[in-house]
Amino acid sequence: MKQVFTGIAELYTPRQRLERAAFAVQDGRFVWVGAEGSLPEEYRGWPRTDLSGRSEGPSAPGGRRYLGVVPGIVDAHTHLVYGGDRLGEYLKRARGESYEAILAAGGGIYSTVRATALASEEELYELAAARAALFLAQGVTSLEVKSGYGLLPEAELKMLRVIRRLGETLPQRVFPTLLAHVVPKGWEREKYVAMFTAELIPEVARSGLAEAVDVFCDQGAFTLEETRRILEAALSHGLKIKLHAEQIAHTGATKLAAELGALSADHLEQSTPGDWQALAKSGTVGTILPGAAVILRKPFPDARAMWDAGVRVAIATDHNPGSSPLYSPWLGMQLTLSLGRLSAEEALIAHTEHAALALGRTDLGRIEVGAMADFVVVDSTYALEPLYRWGNTPIDSVYIEGEKAKD
Ligand code: NIG
Ligand code: FE
Repeated sequence: MKQVFTGIAELYTPRQRLERAAFAVQDGRFVWVGAEGSLPEEYRGWPRTDLSGRSEGPSAPGGRRYLGVVPGIVDAHTHLVYGGDRLGEYLKRARGESYEAILAAGGGIYSTVRATALASEEELYELAAARAALFLAQGVTSLEVKSGYGLLPEAELKMLRVIRRLGETLPQRVFPTLLAHVVPKGWEREKYVAMFTAELIPEVARSGLAEAVDVFCDQGAFTLEETRRILEAALSHGLKIKLHAEQIAHTGATKLAAELGALSADHLEQSTPGDWQALAKSGTVGTILPGAAVILRKPFPDARAMWDAGVRVAIATDHNPGSSPLYSPWLGMQLTLSLGRLSAEEALIAHTEHAALALGRTDLGRIEVGAMADFVVVDSTYALEPLYRWGNTPIDSVYIEGEKAKD
């Protein structure tokens, strides 16, 4: 499949801004990117897709308007598969009850575990696929999806099978992660960690049901010691690792992530300059989850200081029914502009190029030769307009590997 795309007013690669741009795509990858006027001879005969949209307003009645284009948005941290909802908990928290106290009392994550156990694989698939469609409409072309609401081995495998089916059927690219979330009720901690490391991780590695293992290392979840054991088991089975780090309490998880060469350390609400130095040194991505920070009323991570310290800062939705019922990567970027003091251009890099690094990929979240041709056509001449319009995201269409995935 060969195609040239034109009609682009403004393009963010995301590191570079090009005006009146064009690109050529072959077999799902970008093979040329540049100014429309300098399209090389060899691509001139290829089939063309004009991305420009119908003009609105009196300035060009009936004419066509060139549009903005940005890379496909990468969401490198989601809990997209779950049963039930946590609206009741959300209302309680809004009245001042703490997330930690609700979890300690057997609610929170445990209530989603119960609701997820009641749902069939088919139901979980349908619910998650419907959520993924909403993400696609927002321009999300790749997403990581974690297990973690099963806890028991068979229930975790059930979630991972649902995630595998999402990957087989959705237009988006799906990255499956096994998550050690909390110790199930009625289990002794030591027994659970032993089962997780000696049975579940080997089984998941054998069956290829996950690419990575993540641990919720925090107060009320796993200790630093337990986390290390789980991550080392994952590494020894050839799986990649990630961490939920420094969300509720400061545990040292970020430094552990850096030490073990994790793809990313996520959350970071309680992280310190020492943690950022460790991330910068190891190259481990620091992923900010604006939904969870703001919704749980935690300190917003200092994205500006992290970026300036040399951390590869990413942004993700952390979509889940408890701490972050967030469906919009754009809102996450907007919150990071205002509360984390990134520039709009940096926020876009954080949700594209850097987010892809958090999945171990250098060929996603970029419009450059060799990268997968995933991109978002913005319903505006200005490519960054979705960052400007809060709650009214102007998206025209979304392409994955050069094919229109959403009109
Ligand atoms: O990333 N922090 C732990 N895990 C999720 C929340 C899960 C939940 O509350 O259901 C998170 O915030
Ligand atoms: Fe999470």
